[in-house]
Amino acid sequence: MYDTILSPLNYGGLTLKNRIIFAPTSMGLPRGQWLERLKAIAAGGCAMIVIGDIPVGKHGFGASLYSRKGLEFYQELARVVHGEGCLLCAQLHQSDSDLKAMLKYVPSVLTKRISMEQLRPLLNEQVGPYITSLPEKKVREIIHSFGQAAVRAREAGFDMVQVHGDRMCGSFSSSLYNNRRDEYGGSPENRARFAVEAIQAVREQLPDLPIDYKLAVRQEAPHYGNAGVLEEELKVFVPLLEQAGATSFHVTLANHGSLTDTIPPANHPEFGAEGCFLKFCDQVRQLTELPICGVGGLTDPDFVETQLASGRIDCVAMSRQLIADPDWPRKVAAGEPERIHRCVRCNQRCLGGMMSHQGVHCIYEKGETK
Ligand SMILES: Cc1cc2nc3c(=O)[nH]c(=O)nc-3n(C[C@H](O)[C@H](O)[C@H](O)COP(=O)(O)O)c2cc1C
Ligand code: SF4
Repeated sequence: MYDTILSPLNYGGLTLKNRIIFAPTSMGLPRGQWLERLKAIAAGGCAMIVIGDIPVGKHGFGASLYSRKGLEFYQELARVVHGEGCLLCAQLHQSDSDLKAMLKYVPSVLTKRISMEQLRPLLNEQVGPYITSLPEKKVREIIHSFGQAAVRAREAGFDMVQVHGDRMCGSFSSSLYNNRRDEYGGSPENRARFAVEAIQAVREQLPDLPIDYKLAVRQEAPHYGNAGVLEEELKVFVPLLEQAGATSFHVTLANHGSLTDTIPPANHPEFGAEGCFLKFCDQVRQLTELPICGVGGLTDPDFVETQLASGRIDCVAMSRQLIADPDWPRKVAAGEPERIHRCVRCNQRCLGGMMSHQGVHCIYEKGETK
């Protein structure tokens, strides 16, 4: 009944044992709890886990690939996840926040005069000027660090990397943020250059490594997403990213609007439905033969099977659904879909937990139900 979901897939040279991936999800949990959560998700039967927001540089939030402690943590993570028969992918991330601009808001945040929700638009305002004025030498250093980070991720035991096409790659891609006058700004080809060179930096270091690209798409009419690639410009970006060395695409809505647009609740006016971002996959499908991973509001096994079987997408990434029930793949394999705790896209304790600094949880924990 769920033959396609349960069938293997060649994903850029890696064999996924089935079509379900845990989407990149920062959890804000202490390391021990984080490891336990990821072990449970791996044990639940998904084919691969993507670890979100791993900084490509030496400084950044989260465990560093460059410190002994950080590397040891990722090695332990790889051991645990592989022990459950699951693969591991590192999402290589470069922030586009201007740290200096952020510092001026710290006192107001600490004294709660500015909430995290109020802080977000203030930081977003800084992105354009920051990207536009970043010195070319710094741009090249950051690009180089994508290659270095990939080497370290490989050493730590990751099976593949995902270049995070939102954040700095997405801001360079965006005509809304990127007003540079050098070869990294202006035409769509120039705005694609940062992402293209980031992929190339990985490819030069590791010729055989599968490289997923998180392709963040901006739509107009109505306007959603500010970073990322405008729908009409996909035809320029997708071939360039493929030629640079990307081996698959993870397609979603672009960031830097509201977080509840990219992580939409069920009552979202535009993206409330199951499979809310698959329309972007349809556009990318016209432009490449590479495997495409869909993400966004995918919870229903019947719906997922239909999308995969029709060839609309090749695999599925789930964030909230595998937080709500890590055993989704195992229950599907056992023919017991009715036992799945279906994510209701309330955002209460996952996104809500992260925003209130309590870490990512779910309403289904500790006997709670919706
Ligand atoms: C708590 C939380 C943290 C997330 N962290 C990241 C992240 O670090 N990197 C990223 O690219 N996407 C992140 N996302 C977005 C997810 O990967 C995914 O695109 C989004 O949640 C929509 O999928 P879903 O409906 O299956 O949750 C996060 C989502 C949630 C809920
Ligand atoms: S808290 Fe709500 S949206 Fe978040 S994972 Fe649980 S059911 Fe899904």
